[in-house]
Amino acid sequence: MSNKMWGGRFASGPDAIMEAINVSIDVDRHLYAQDIAASKAHASMLAQQGIITDDDARKIAHGLDTILSEIDNGDFSFDRSLEDIHMNVESRLSALIGPAAGRLHTARSRNDQVATDFRLWMRDTIDSLDGALADYQTALAERALEHADTVMPGLTHLQTAQPVTFGHHLLAYVEMAARDRGRFADARKRLNESPLGAAALAGTSFPVDRDMTAKALGFDRPMANSLDAVSDRDFVMETLAAATIASVHLSRLAEEIVIWTSPLVGLVSLSEKFTTGSSIMPQKRNPDAAELVRAKAGRIAGALNAIIMVMKGLPLAYQKDMQEDKEGAMDALSALSLCLAAMTGMVRDITPDVARMKKAAGEGYATATDLADWLVRTLKMPFRDAHHVTGRIVSAASARNLPLHRLPLEDMRAVEPRITEEVFGVLSATNSVRSRTSYGGTAPRNVRTQAKRWLKRLGKDTP
Ligand code: ARG
Repeated sequence: MSNKMWGGRFASGPDAIMEAINVSIDVDRHLYAQDIAASKAHASMLAQQGIITDDDARKIAHGLDTILSEIDNGDFSFDRSLEDIHMNVESRLSALIGPAAGRLHTARSRNDQVATDFRLWMRDTIDSLDGALADYQTALAERALEHADTVMPGLTHLQTAQPVTFGHHLLAYVEMAARDRGRFADARKRLNESPLGAAALAGTSFPVDRDMTAKALGFDRPMANSLDAVSDRDFVMETLAAATIASVHLSRLAEEIVIWTSPLVGLVSLSEKFTTGSSIMPQKRNPDAAELVRAKAGRIAGALNAIIMVMKGLPLAYQKDMQEDKEGAMDALSALSLCLAAMTGMVRDITPDVARMKKAAGEGYATATDLADWLVRTLKMPFRDAHHVTGRIVSAASARNLPLHRLPLEDMRAVEPRITEEVFGVLSATNSVRSRTSYGGTAPRNVRTQAKRWLKRLGKDTP
């Protein structure tokens, strides 16, 4: 049997393989709510413009509402031979309301229809990701406030560098998430134009009111070029680029959690809520959720790469290649949403080992820079000379296997005779972080201010 929607010039049905490669209902069924909303807007515009009768528009709207609740309630049977969501909905509409259903597709094509539906879907998805990012930021900022004074080793090259606070470290991820939200907001702003009424590619001879449908669907305006409207998927690429960057950010904290929770490091622990056991090694508590967040960044970046490859070199206007825009995007954005939920959960769940962090912050000569800064400030030494002197003191301490603050004063004086007792004031990790009061620095006072500023911006009351 030929296709009931477009089979007019076809004598027979497609090969099974043709149907298998062509069908998209398993993916685009997720657009049903947007498809129905766009059809309702289109039908009421057609009626207002006198293109269809008010009576037909009413029947159409009523039928579409019925279909919406059928799908919502799981009472709708999707038919693969009808290819996609658009034809599944229209076919059901015709079963429900008869010939009036056939008027809905006046002055539109599946090309502007799918572009409209997918923009609406993307907009909804961005809004929900934005909420998830805000929740993640809130969890981070709350824990940052709680740990504004918790000293930990700051690392560069994964080597002990200078002491920082755990709160400061967490707030770094709040900033990243803020830029992620900004990227999604930018993408949203650019994608929020309506393709509806571009029809197949050239526009339509019917007196449509594209402003009306754009407004009804919450778009800022109709897209100005019909060819562009049906044939660009930059909004998919842009949103996936934002998602990729966000997931890369998440993967970095995920990786830190993996490192920190390793018994070799032991700076933090996760509860049983966010760990799993091993089927063979009874002692294990594995940070699987963090590992999977780390891995899913690969999948999300893969989806970005895939749509870029699909679009590269595609001539205008619609090409069926573009049907491949949805599966990877939907998969990637739902993976991101799951990653955000998992990271938010882990941030709330995590328990830093405050004593161990403090000890680790004092090891590895993390306050060597503080000593050099003291020589500069107190003895007016040029920083380069102070760096050299400090290096010699560090090697004296290391030869005696002592941390800097335990090295006797005379050993320091053997290197630089002008050093006084007062130097010990800057050699502890706690005093080191306290002194980092420059804007953006790790001092507990700064961290408290920033954490509170974020919580306020995120709509949370703070003590
Ligand atoms: N399922 C199609 C897609 O997602 C809808 C548009 C089909 N248009 C066409 N001319 N065959 O791209």
